[in-house]
Amino acid sequence: MTNVYLDNSATTKLDPRVLEKMKPYFDSKYGNASSIHAMGQENHIVLTKCKEEIAKLINGNPESIIFTGSATEANNMIIKGVAEKNKESYSAKATETPGKHILISTIEHPSVKKSAEYLKSQGFDIELIPVNSDGLVELDQVKKMIKPETILISVMTINNEIGTIQPIKQIAEFAKKNNILFHTDAVQAVPYVDLDVKGWGVDFLSLSAHKFNGPLGVGIAYLADRRSVTPLIHGGGQEYGVRGGTYNIPGIVGMTEALKLAYAEKDEYINQVSDLTQYLWKRIQEEIDDVSLNGSTEHRTPNNLNILFKRIEGEAILMDLSVKGINVSTGSACSAENLRPSSVLSKIGLEDNDLNSNIRFTLGKFNTKEEIDYTVDSLVETVRRLRSFTPIK
Ligand SMILES: Cc1ncc(COP(=O)(O)O)c(C=O)c1O
Repeated sequence: MTNVYLDNSATTKLDPRVLEKMKPYFDSKYGNASSIHAMGQENHIVLTKCKEEIAKLINGNPESIIFTGSATEANNMIIKGVAEKNKESYSAKATETPGKHILISTIEHPSVKKSAEYLKSQGFDIELIPVNSDGLVELDQVKKMIKPETILISVMTINNEIGTIQPIKQIAEFAKKNNILFHTDAVQAVPYVDLDVKGWGVDFLSLSAHKFNGPLGVGIAYLADRRSVTPLIHGGGQEYGVRGGTYNIPGIVGMTEALKLAYAEKDEYINQVSDLTQYLWKRIQEEIDDVSLNGSTEHRTPNNLNILFKRIEGEAILMDLSVKGINVSTGSACSAENLRPSSVLSKIGLEDNDLNSNIRFTLGKFNTKEEIDYTVDSLVETVRRLRSFTPIK
C-alpha cells in the first residue's frame, strides 16, 4: 500500500542516523545521569556535551538549556513559570504595581494559548496580539499594546498552520528596550530559520525534537536566566532544580544529533523541499479550480502549503486522501481530538464559509517527486468527485 507522508509539521520520521546514535543508550549505556557511579557519570558527561553542542547551534549558553518531555511542557513551564515568579516577587514588594499583563499573539499554538487562558482564570491580564491578513505580527501593533505592567510577550517564530515567519528579532529588541521578557516558540523553525538566541536577545525559546527528524518525547526550554521562572515540576533536583525527572539520555542524544544534521544539511534540504513544494503548488493550481493559498507568500516556510479548496469540506478531502495512502492535515490542530475550525485561518480573515475547506500539506526531507505526482493525481480525482455532489455553493 502506498504511504505518502505530507504532515511534517505534525511530526517527522526519525532519521535512521539519529536512531543509530540513540541505540547504545537504550542498550548498554543506560546509567542514570544523576548517579554517582561510573555509568551514571559517563552519561552525565554525555548530557553536558549535548548541551554544549545544542548551545552552539542556537547561539546560546549551555547552562540555559533545560530538557523537557515536549515543547508543550516547555511552553507551559515558561508562560506559567514567569507568571508565578512574578507573583512571588510582587508579594514580597507590596507597594509595587503587580505586573500581571501578558501579551501573546493570537495565532499561538494551544500549549501557549491555553497556558495563558489558565493564567487569566488566575487573575492575570492576558491580551492577544492580532495578526495581519498574511498572519504576521506587526511591531507597531505590539507597541500599542504594551502597558507598564507587561511582564511577558510571546510570539512564535513560525506558525504551525500557515508557516508564517515572524519578525522575532525586531519584537525581541523592542521587548528588551521596554524591560519586558520575551518568549518565542521556535518548534516549527528548524532548520528554516537560523536560531540565534543571543543575537535576537530572546529570554525564552522552545523546541521539540520530533519536528526535525528527532525522537518523540524530548524538547527544550531555553531559559536565558533560569531565575526568571518558578519551577512547575518538582522532583529530584535535575536541571538545576528547574525541572525534576530522570534525564532522557537516548532522547537527548537523538535530539542533539537531529539538530546537528538539520543545520549541517540545511541548504541542500531547503532547496529540495522548496522545489517539491513549489512543484506541488504549481500542479494543484494548473489542475484544480478555485484554490488559493492561505497566509503569506513572502514570509513563509518553504515546506508549507495551506490551501483553500472552495466548496468542499477539508475533512472529506483528508479522509479520501487517507484511504489512498496520503497523509495530510486540515491544519486546524495538532490532534484529531480537536476538530473545531481553525482559529488561525479566521484570524487572518477567511470567511466563515471557507473555514472548513482547507488542507495543510507540509513536506519533509524524505518526500520524493513521485510522491508529489501521486498526491496531485489522487487529489484531482478526490476534488472532482467531492465537488460533484457538494451541497456548498
Ligand atoms: C508551534 C508549536 N508549538 C508547540 C508544539 C507542541 O510540541 P510537542 O509536540 O513537543 O508538545 C507544536 C506541535 O505541533 C507546535 O507546532
